[in-house]
Amino acid sequence: MKFTNLGLSTLHKVFRGKLVGPVLSLLIVIVTTQIMWQFYIFSVEWHFFKNHYLAYQFTNQEKNNSLTCPIPLPDPFDAAVMTYAEKLNPLSCRQVQPYLTYVDSNGTLMINNTAVKENRLDLSHLQCSFQTFQRKEKDDDKLSYDNEQPLYSHADLPKGKEFVNVTCIYEGNIIYRGYHTYIIRKAPAKHTTGKHLKPNVFIFVIESLSRLNAIRHMPKTYSYLTRTLRSQVLKGLNKVADNSFPNMIPFLTGRRVYTDPPELPGDQSIGPFDDWPFVWKNFSNAGYITALHEDSPEFTLLNYLSKGCLNQPTDFYLRPLWLALQGSPLWKESSQWCFGNVPKLKLLLDWILEFCKKHKKIPYFLFSFFIEVTHNDFNNAQLLDDDVSQFLEMLNRSGLFKNTIVILMGDHGNRYGNVLETEVGRIEERMPFFSIHLPLTLKKQYPHLQKYLKMNSERLTTWIDIHSLLMDVATETYFESELQHVWNTRGYSPWRMLIPNNRTCEEAGIPKQFCICQQFYTVSVDDPISKQVADAFVIELNSMLEPVSVLCAKLWLNRIIQAQVIIPDEHVAQKKGYIHAVKILIEVGPSRALLEAILQRDAWSSEYCTVGDISRLNKYKGQSECVADKKLRKFCYCFSSIVS
Ligand SMILES: *[C@@H]1O[C@H](CO)[C@@H](O)[C@H](O)[C@H]1NC(C)=O
Ligand SMILES: *[C@@H]1O[C@H](CO)[C@@H](O)[C@H](O)[C@H]1NC(C)=O
Ligand SMILES: *[C@@H]1O[C@H](CO)[C@@H](O)[C@H](O)[C@H]1NC(C)=O
Ligand SMILES: *[C@@H]1O[C@H](CO)[C@@H](O)[C@H](O)[C@H]1NC(C)=O
Ligand SMILES: *[C@@H]1O[C@H](CO)[C@@H](O)[C@H](O)[C@H]1NC(C)=O
Ligand SMILES: *[C@@H]1O[C@H](CO)[C@@H](O)[C@H](O)[C@H]1NC(C)=O
Ligand SMILES: *[C@@H]1O[C@H](CO)[C@@H](O)[C@H](O)[C@H]1NC(C)=O
Repeated sequence: MKFTNLGLSTLHKVFRGKLVGPVLSLLIVIVTTQIMWQFYIFSVEWHFFKNHYLAYQFTNQEKNNSLTCPIPLPDPFDAAVMTYAEKLNPLSCRQVQPYLTYVDSNGTLMINNTAVKENRLDLSHLQCSFQTFQRKEKDDDKLSYDNEQPLYSHADLPKGKEFVNVTCIYEGNIIYRGYHTYIIRKAPAKHTTGKHLKPNVFIFVIESLSRLNAIRHMPKTYSYLTRTLRSQVLKGLNKVADNSFPNMIPFLTGRRVYTDPPELPGDQSIGPFDDWPFVWKNFSNAGYITALHEDSPEFTLLNYLSKGCLNQPTDFYLRPLWLALQGSPLWKESSQWCFGNVPKLKLLLDWILEFCKKHKKIPYFLFSFFIEVTHNDFNNAQLLDDDVSQFLEMLNRSGLFKNTIVILMGDHGNRYGNVLETEVGRIEERMPFFSIHLPLTLKKQYPHLQKYLKMNSERLTTWIDIHSLLMDVATETYFESELQHVWNTRGYSPWRMLIPNNRTCEEAGIPKQFCICQQFYTVSVDDPISKQVADAFVIELNSMLEPVSVLCAKLWLNRIIQAQVIIPDEHVAQKKGYIHAVKILIEVGPSRALLEAILQRDAWSSEYCTVGDISRLNKYKGQSECVADKKLRKFCYCFSSIVS
């Protein structure tokens, strides 16, 4: 109250003219300082960019690349990106209603007596009713509801019904709205021959998740995948287009959208897409049950500003339920990222879990995509980490991953926000997360699958390659192969062949503006830059040896062997946040160790610092046994070894 009055009276004075003079001059001072400050920032960054990027662009030096596409592997915790990282509180949903009903595993709609008791409701005054509903024929956006029926303690859902909504009235007020799905057992379209059970394909996509952001903001999930499930991560995966649709269509069909001539039939943007060769059709033909589960019905892959499919595309299709949720008054009453009492993510995960449990005896292909939370802000991935990691753990613990290929991935990187003002941000925008876990049966029978995934993990790969991998599963094609395109015109199956390390973006079908390939420019070892970087490298080595300086000798620079400036692709390189990186190979004394590392700085840092690992290129046996640390062993030169 007091403060408002104070504010008002100040305003009043300003407007009465008494303070106009001083306020105006203060304003002018602020604005001028601001402009000068901006100009200063601009000129520092511009000079840095000119000297460290344009200078190399304009030299006519032959490219000296042993690799056509060196993959950038930036630090996920790069300081410039971390200035935009924020710690968020875990998601918690406002409890908007009691948990009054549920559908049990036999398809019976039940009143939850625990909730009735807990909320001190008198059952005789509780009036509940339910309606089953489904997708309307030939329309992806409409629902058809069956007759409303009363619900006393329990009711069996009519045969074949998958979706139901419930309303409960108590003392004249609506106190509850419930939405449930029942996963019925469906027979696959084709029965398979052969005794062994084909592996399930479990795909979970998180909107806009890059590999770096998975490490940075979903550490529990990342660690569970890579440590426990031993998933292989493809670090050189480059998106093939800007947003979700033109990236996931190549993933699902092996073909690109919006090309001239078109690679896909019919209308490329509004659909309907019934005729497209989605990989789930091949799985269906191979005796699989198929499922497509996405949230946010307005933004799903095939429906965003388009018609989707006229006929239901997969055996299990969650869209009708999400349409019902979105149409419910509860949608608006719920807190952010929640529906009713629970996070929307949790709803999706619960349905996926139930789906997996129901299909232990029939192979399934599941494509699920969680859109909502991570679309606009890369920090929001934190809100998913607990639920996703616990979900994976639970599926693994329940034995549901025993015969399952588990793919957890993004569709592209984060496309919005200040983080794109950093070079690492621009790189990771183009580099979605991709991880794949192979079941033991597959690993044992075809050991080369895991071997090739590992060998290809730092090579240029695309969603079109992953389409080839999926087609391999659908057709049970697992043999090791010479390099060749399979199933589509551009893809290499990344688990059956070695992808060449000189593959170019053009060959892989990646448009120039999304290409992450770097170039190396060799600079003379006598160049001042080489000397500066080499000196910084030695200083950093010695500072790392500081804690063990009683054991290891101080190092000095013997000679610079090679220095290469790393030039990012022209679409990644921008004045704002430009990083100057140099790969350098030096020999140090007294050990004569050959050490290689990448050092970098930006316009605002005073010195070059190493990023990533330091490599030792010659033997160090007999030199560094006095320290146990793996990292230090590469370059510590023990006093004891000098004596002996
Ligand atoms: C290219 O690099 C190799 C070593 O990788 C070096 O021997 C050679 O001199 C370089 N050529 C040019 C033109 O810089
Ligand atoms: C489902 O039905 C089976 C067989 O009729 C029965 O054994 C089981 O207890 C039922 N489950 C539930 C949750 O009612
Ligand atoms: C039943 O209600 C209790 C108490 O509100 C709740 O903890 C529980 O999750 C509910 N059960 C189901 C299956 O919804
Ligand atoms: C189910 O949802 C429809 C559409 O929102 C609504 O008209 C109907 O009243 C609901 N029925 C029940 C029993 O909640
Ligand atoms: C995959 O399915 C598409 C669409 O049904 C079909 O055109 C194609 O021939 C199938 N490919 C294989 C190898 O079965
Ligand atoms: C999860 O899966 C891995 C590999 O399949 C297995 O070794 C491990 O025991 C499982 N973990 C749990 C907790 O079940
Ligand atoms: C890549 O390397 C292979 C074999 O070394 C060679 O045949 C091919 O021409 C190279 N491609 C490019 C684009 O350099």
